[in-house]
Amino acid sequence: MASCDPKFDLEQAFRKGIAAAISEDAAKTDPQIKFSGDPTHGDYQCNAALSIARAIKGNPRDVAEKILAATPLSALGTAEIAGPGFINIKLAQSALQTMLDRVDMDDLGIEPAPLPHAIVVDLCGVNVAKQMHVGHLRSTILGDVVARLHERLGRKVFRENHLGDWGLPIAMTMSALRRQKRDLKSLTLADLNHAYRAAQLEAATDTAGLEAARTRDAGPHRVIELETQQESAISAEQDAKSTLLKLQSGDVATVAAWQKLIDVTMADVLEIASVLGVRLTNEHSRGESFYRDKLAPTVQSFIDHGLAQEDQGALIVRIAEQERPLIIRKADGGFLYATTDLAAVHYRVAQLHAGEIIYVVDARQRDHFRDVFNAIHLIGWNKLADGTQCKLSHLAFGSVLGTDKKPLKTRSGELFTLKALLDEAIQRGTDQVKLRATQTDSPTQGTTDHEIAAIGRAVGIAAVKYADLSGDPIKDYVFDLDRMIAFEGDTGPYIQYAHARIASLISKSDAADSAISNSAWKFDHPAERALVLAILSFPATIKSAADLGSPQRVCAALHELANCYATFYQACPVLKAPDESTRLARLRLSLLTKRVLAQGLSLLGMDSPNRM
Ligand code: ARG
Repeated sequence: MASCDPKFDLEQAFRKGIAAAISEDAAKTDPQIKFSGDPTHGDYQCNAALSIARAIKGNPRDVAEKILAATPLSALGTAEIAGPGFINIKLAQSALQTMLDRVDMDDLGIEPAPLPHAIVVDLCGVNVAKQMHVGHLRSTILGDVVARLHERLGRKVFRENHLGDWGLPIAMTMSALRRQKRDLKSLTLADLNHAYRAAQLEAATDTAGLEAARTRDAGPHRVIELETQQESAISAEQDAKSTLLKLQSGDVATVAAWQKLIDVTMADVLEIASVLGVRLTNEHSRGESFYRDKLAPTVQSFIDHGLAQEDQGALIVRIAEQERPLIIRKADGGFLYATTDLAAVHYRVAQLHAGEIIYVVDARQRDHFRDVFNAIHLIGWNKLADGTQCKLSHLAFGSVLGTDKKPLKTRSGELFTLKALLDEAIQRGTDQVKLRATQTDSPTQGTTDHEIAAIGRAVGIAAVKYADLSGDPIKDYVFDLDRMIAFEGDTGPYIQYAHARIASLISKSDAADSAISNSAWKFDHPAERALVLAILSFPATIKSAADLGSPQRVCAALHELANCYATFYQACPVLKAPDESTRLARLRLSLLTKRVLAQGLSLLGMDSPNRM
């Protein structure tokens, strides 16, 4: 099938030219095909001559001339040399039309690009008994989009929700619940949170305070108070430890109670996932507990490979050039978060045949993943059966901040829960849509409350998700609903609004879809041409966004497309076009833009309402 990507075709042609005119080696470097900054100079430019001239100590203009003479542009377009050695390229109308035809198909020109092995996206990773918070929002949203992009290209994807569902914190919460005599049948997530916090408080022994009280003679009351506190902390700890032992040995009642805690947590997580439009179900849960029987063998393998050594009773793996070793077994015999991750990589490579594992996890775990990846490389568990190597990558993201630049808090000062935050976003989205529905000429005038609510929800969710996806993930970002929900600017609602405006334009045109899609392409105006180029760059953007794990690229492409459409719409009347063929051709460009916007929004896990 013909390519629909001008940049790709130009790269191919110029590589050939560079190989023939300069050398095979020079042709291996990036031919530097860029969008032209100034459309009067052309559509694209090739800047390779300048760096090649520097490398071979030639005159850049001469080099450009030689390259151009040897480049088989043929039907693709024409080119000329400008300035010190830039090559400006103008694509031929007929070439662009052929490419548009290719994009204007069911698949929008996005061809399958399967990979020999599966891709694991490690996302969400909530902890049982602790409420899902804003930090998990990013992992879930980013991870879902990364998964969608790969799926769109026909790749096998495993969404792995590496739940924190094993270990002492859960045992502590369970024993706190038991001491509170909570009936687990009616357990809610709020109860769970309370029990967790109570358990944390109980465990916090004020040893230093007790010492100080004793030496400074703070009076018998204070000392007794602190002693009692410490005693109850010690007994709570012992209770938690015995609960953990029962859990680990498979005691039926303890395991049932534990399962109940997981169910209560997951019910909440899955509800939020569904509100968010994220594809996450119970089938994606493979928590830390899944690896519990694999931890001892994992440690044993490191011992057998001579990679583990004892250090003050603990077992560590030393990593070259790294000061701090990785602890894989504590002195008390317990395993750690890292041990579980080592076992998980082994499982994912050996059982799921993962060719890549992408950890969508908070940047603060960077050292953890660096150590785990290094240890995996040492033991060779990244090797697949066919000898290829699984790529391990950490898609690290920053924190979500409040408008005061501090970690997001509610007005009452508690840490924002994800649910409260989404409810507020949906409310704001609905308010916006309602406000517009009262304006004359609004396409949503007279819409039922039910429909308004659905649109408002779509807008609110897109606002939150777009803010999360459109920036550089590593940067912290400010959760500012006012900015996120705006219908103008670099926002999700702006893209949705561009889509809805085209939808209502097309419905106003009264032209049959078949009349639109059978019309001939026409794009003489610079704004039409810019729109065409924005449309054509979309399939390649999806591919690179998937390959680089960068949802940000999809957002940028959609924003650019929506902007190009707005300029086109200003400059080129559609319904009042000068003649019928121009009217139909502009409707056809509009319809294709609408389809591309809808596809992009769906890859970002956002709805595209037809009215807003
Ligand atoms: N439960 C962890 C946390 O909340 C995140 C899990 C990330 N995934 C992993 N394979 N370690 O910090």
